[in-house]
Amino acid sequence: MAEPKASNLTWHPGHVDAERRAALLGHRAACLWFTGLSGSGKSTLSRAVESALVERGVQAYVLDGDNVRMGLNRDLGFAAADRGENIRRIGEVARLFVDSGTLVLTAFISPYRADRAAARALMPESFVEVFVDPGLDVAEARDPKGLYKRARAGEIQGFTGISAPYEAPESPELRVDTGALSIEASADAVLSYLQTQGHIPAG
Ligand SMILES: Nc1ncnc2c1ncn2[C@@H]1O[C@H](COP(=O)(O)OP(=O)(O)OP(=O)(O)O)[C@@H](O)[C@H]1O
Ligand SMILES: [Mg+2]
Repeated sequence: MAEPKASNLTWHPGHVDAERRAALLGHRAACLWFTGLSGSGKSTLSRAVESALVERGVQAYVLDGDNVRMGLNRDLGFAAADRGENIRRIGEVARLFVDSGTLVLTAFISPYRADRAAARALMPESFVEVFVDPGLDVAEARDPKGLYKRARAGEIQGFTGISAPYEAPESPELRVDTGALSIEASADAVLSYLQTQGHIPAG
């Protein structure tokens, strides 16, 4: 990982450790990293899980692809280097949320294994990779933003799954086939995982 540009930096640790935070909040922080093709269901599923968590009193928050690209990452495009920097910044922001005790959900295509591995390395104990995987055919048939149609027509270059690679996770903590499962059943699968792993109490 690249070193900071500035020198003479000192890390100031806080006084509240992760265990104390978890005890006070009643849940253990995690980064749920949703990855998958456009149209696979990352935004839909992460929002469904976020709602269910917040309804249970769990501090949860979604960082979503387009929203972050409209703000924090407005200076970045879709070239490989920009995609890498996009994910690097998201990883750093997600780590801050995890430090704060939040269950943070990230909803980015994040097509490159190395980028996801770098995000994982920032918070190995808290990282939950969720492969949202209905398969290309289903994602393309959904085409909620009309992007596949434009990519097939050659109007969008470097479109993941069509003219740019998607490197599927080799050992995600969770794989959700959103082609076979309803939105509710998909969200339940994620919630069950969080319960089993002790991130949230049984609800
Ligand atoms: N089980 C499911 N989980 C999630 N989405 C589903 C499911 N079943 C059907 N869908 C539908 O699939 C579509 C998924 O679109 P969504 O915008 O969530 O994809 P995305 O992965 O966020 O894409 P992008 O990378 O372009 O932002 C929605 O229209 C949603 O209603
Ligand atoms: Mg989305």
